[in-house]
Amino acid sequence: MGFLDGKVGVVTGAAQGLGTAYARALASEGADVAICDVKPEVSAVADEIAATSGRTVRAYPCDVSDAEAIRGFVDGVLRDFGGVDVVVMNAAIYGSSPLDLSREEALAEYQRFYDTNVKSVYLLERAFAPSLVEREGDIVVISTDHVLPPLEPGGTRGGPGSDLYDSSKWVLNGYIQAWALGFAAQGHNVRVNGIGMGATDTPMLRGVFPGDGPSDEIVAGWMTPAQQAQLLLDLLQDGRTGDLISSEPGHPVELPPRSAYGQPVSNLPIEQFHHGLMGLEPAIWEPPS
Ligand SMILES: NC(=O)c1ccc[n+]([C@@H]2O[C@H](COP(=O)([O-])OP(=O)(O)OC[C@H]3O[C@@H](n4cnc5c(N)ncnc54)[C@H](O)[C@@H]3O)[C@@H](O)[C@H]2O)c1
Repeated sequence: MGFLDGKVGVVTGAAQGLGTAYARALASEGADVAICDVKPEVSAVADEIAATSGRTVRAYPCDVSDAEAIRGFVDGVLRDFGGVDVVVMNAAIYGSSPLDLSREEALAEYQRFYDTNVKSVYLLERAFAPSLVEREGDIVVISTDHVLPPLEPGGTRGGPGSDLYDSSKWVLNGYIQAWALGFAAQGHNVRVNGIGMGATDTPMLRGVFPGDGPSDEIVAGWMTPAQQAQLLLDLLQDGRTGDLISSEPGHPVELPPRSAYGQPVSNLPIEQFHHGLMGLEPAIWEPPS
């Protein structure tokens, strides 16, 4: 028995890393889960989670940068599961766009990043929205701490080589804010939040370290996908909307206080509204005393 018994979850980019952890966590709480990825390994991940959780877990091959592939994925999920309650927009690519790229290469990189990290989220939201409205569900957009204020005084965010990645994640802030407001304004109980984590041990982050990869000492300082998955479950149980949750190595991986949340954001007084969105609630990012 779990708090997601009878619910259906969707996780994009679940063949490895955080996506696998999110799918496993949803199933552990009783949800049936639909997962997708460009990597064929997603099928084995679905089989493994189904076997360990006893839930129905189906894998769909899907390149989320391809609008037609998204259409096929959504149609398949709605046909196979009948509707969705939780959609975790997790699939993304990371990388840099060096200044010495040719014009054609730079344009191709722009297209690749924005189709994968931005357009996919937009299309998935639109396609699943009717079902989420009907079932009063959740959208969780996976972002990055690069677009949140640093927890440590003097801390920095983002990297010199991650312009397309970081900018694509900034775009997601606009989605989270507008969708949280939009659903609430129309009287729909669909919650929209983001999770913008710092360094978490996944193939994506390990891939940033060329050669032998990161040392054990470096990896020991990272957060784990299991911690992030627990944060997702806590967020789903909390019921807030319009928030972007931060987490950072060296700090507890936990939901920040819910001072301004828990009601439709359109009902908030303007000063709470201002602080309640996009992680700007001071309690979230003030340096720990
Ligand atoms: N790991 C970190 O430290 C970290 C930090 C901040 C944010 N994030 C975010 O967390 C999410 C998951 O990252 P991760 O670290 O697990 O990455 P990862 O690269 O290990 O896993 C991402 C998965 O998405 C899939 N994917 C990529 N492009 C796809 C496409 N076009 N269609 C379908 N699937 C696709 C990949 O095949 C892979 O299985 C991403 O949104 C990432 O930006 C990760």
